[in-house]
Amino acid sequence: MPSSDSPSLASDSLLACSKALGLPHIQRHVFLCADQTLPKCCSKEKSLVAWNYLKQRLKQLGLDTPTADRPSCVFRTKANCLRVCQQGPILVVYPDGVWYHSVNPEILERIIGEHLVGNQIVQEYAFLVHPLPPLEDSTEAI
Ligand code: FES
Repeated sequence: MPSSDSPSLASDSLLACSKALGLPHIQRHVFLCADQTLPKCCSKEKSLVAWNYLKQRLKQLGLDTPTADRPSCVFRTKANCLRVCQQGPILVVYPDGVWYHSVNPEILERIIGEHLVGNQIVQEYAFLVHPLPPLEDSTEAI
């Protein structure tokens, strides 16, 4: 929500879209390098297999939509390139800041079950863990 001391210029349509997507309930945001303009970390086909699996499994497990029982959700974004460009597909989970390599459906199943649901990093495929700093620390530098 925008702060109360700064008027929001967001339209009703934008706010409705935000609500429909469950944006206020995002617990984690997953970015996957897929459908690249210049496929470097893996083939475009391999990245799309991973992307389609991620979408399908989050939906099947009901993780992509907040519910009364579980008011948080996992948001997913297809990134054209995450700039790592090797050992892909590359995936990053925020706010945890966990970067994974070689993400295929089998490994995605582990990331979904162990990390997104079980809160345990899949160490074998994580190559960096760097959570983003809290907002207070970030604004001091501005
Ligand atoms: S092409 Fe996948 S990270 Fe750059």
